[in-house]
Amino acid sequence: MKPLSILFATSEMAPWVKTGGLGDVSAALPRALAESGHDVRALLPCYPALRQAFPEATALAEIPALAPALPPARLLAAETDGLPLLLLDCPPLYDRPGNPYVDVSGHDWPDNAIRFGLLSRVAALLGQAASPIDWRPDIVHGNDWQTALAAAWLHYEGGAASVVTVHNIAFQGCFGEPLRAELGLPEAAWRFDGVEYHGLLSFLKAGLQLATRLSTVSPSYAREIQDEAFGYALAPLLRHRRDHLHGILNGIDAKLWNPAADPALAASYAANRLAAKRLNKTALQQEMGLDPATDRPLFGVVSRLTEQKGHDLLLAIGDDLPTLPAQLVVLGSGNPALEAGFLALAERLPGQVAVRLGFDENLAHRIEAGADCFLMPSRFEPCGLNQMYSLRYGTPPLVQATGGLADTVVDVSAATLADKSGNGFVMADSSSDALWAAMQRAAAAWSDKRQWLRIQQNGMRCDFSWRHAAADYDSLYRAAIADRH
Ligand code: ADP
Ligand code: GLC
Repeated sequence: MKPLSILFATSEMAPWVKTGGLGDVSAALPRALAESGHDVRALLPCYPALRQAFPEATALAEIPALAPALPPARLLAAETDGLPLLLLDCPPLYDRPGNPYVDVSGHDWPDNAIRFGLLSRVAALLGQAASPIDWRPDIVHGNDWQTALAAAWLHYEGGAASVVTVHNIAFQGCFGEPLRAELGLPEAAWRFDGVEYHGLLSFLKAGLQLATRLSTVSPSYAREIQDEAFGYALAPLLRHRRDHLHGILNGIDAKLWNPAADPALAASYAANRLAAKRLNKTALQQEMGLDPATDRPLFGVVSRLTEQKGHDLLLAIGDDLPTLPAQLVVLGSGNPALEAGFLALAERLPGQVAVRLGFDENLAHRIEAGADCFLMPSRFEPCGLNQMYSLRYGTPPLVQATGGLADTVVDVSAATLADKSGNGFVMADSSSDALWAAMQRAAAAWSDKRQWLRIQQNGMRCDFSWRHAAADYDSLYRAAIADRH
């Protein structure tokens, strides 16, 4: 089949700019699509980290002020591992410290509507006849609210077919009505079936309403967001568009996350050489100041600490850990109350609980390798990458059955051990009691070394490579192009 030209628009890309899974996906999916033969370019803001990483980036085009609130900008061309990058250079909007969304003290940048309004506008422009460059995509693929609004211009003004992927529906990008004119959206867009959403301009709602096709990052989440409990107030719209909504499970980068060749680890190992995993546990216990216990499992957490991730459920039972008995290591940052709660728990249980606040990519790898069991009691989880990293690292995940967690983790039972599918532990519901019960089951299974080895190997055999997802996106893009014509 004819290869497609694809513009992948995103607000983050690992390793340079990453606040969560979107960074990992944006680094891997465009490459996987390029490897399967497509002509892919990734568009993202030229944040300081990218300016530093690509000093050789060359000026490709000037972009005039496209609307009253949008400053002029430039497109720079760079390349990473054969993947062309289009860096949107606009220092007044993107050249600042902190992360893409918040300042160093954790507050949303006050001009996020303009910052991501420009990113969306330029993504759309590149898919239109007025594009300042001579490469024209068949598909403009936006990700989350920050680039979803691109679909609105493509809808009202014409241009390429569009796809919007929801990585997390909890973030919608809602701003005041005056922004419509300030961003240069037509008056006709101000309708309930346009960009308007309860009197506000919603970037995500606009994308979900107007993109040619929609996707989200797991089949279960695609179903869940059609339900009020998960879809927030967007569920009716998603039900209305369900024939155009696809659930495609994310993959993982099997080179970056490979226990047999991971430079961050104390010892490398593989499914048929699992004994060396123990050395990673000892090294992690030492690094984190935990007792060098070998008689109890070590539970691991690497996570944004937010309501979504359900770690308050863990905090509520944290003081009981020594009765299991078990140890706990936590790497995370986010909500100050959760951060303080974990620090206090570590103080009450020295040697048994260790907490590191902050973002540390290498430590994340060492926890995946050194922990015995990985905890993800998420209330909702569109896909989740850490449970897949854990499966690959022989560290069975313990999860709540939601979204991508439900699609990747198979609860251990007599039946699933017999058919070799059981690869982790699934909580009965979203409560501390259910978390505790699942941790008890995991600790008991860990004590039976032969059974534990079977669970680890079942997980390590799973194939979460991007190849499958890339093939599904290929079909989705072709469906969008057919709809557009
Ligand atoms: P989400 O995108 O909702 O945060 P995912 O599971 O999709 O959840 O992806 C999270 C990604 O961010 C993973 O690669 C995980 O290892 C990483 N991560 C989260 N918190 C930290 C942290 N404190 N330090 C290092 N990596 C982290
Ligand atoms: C979001 C979701 C997470 C998903 C990631 C990448 O941040 O919270 O579940 O894995 O996006 O798609």
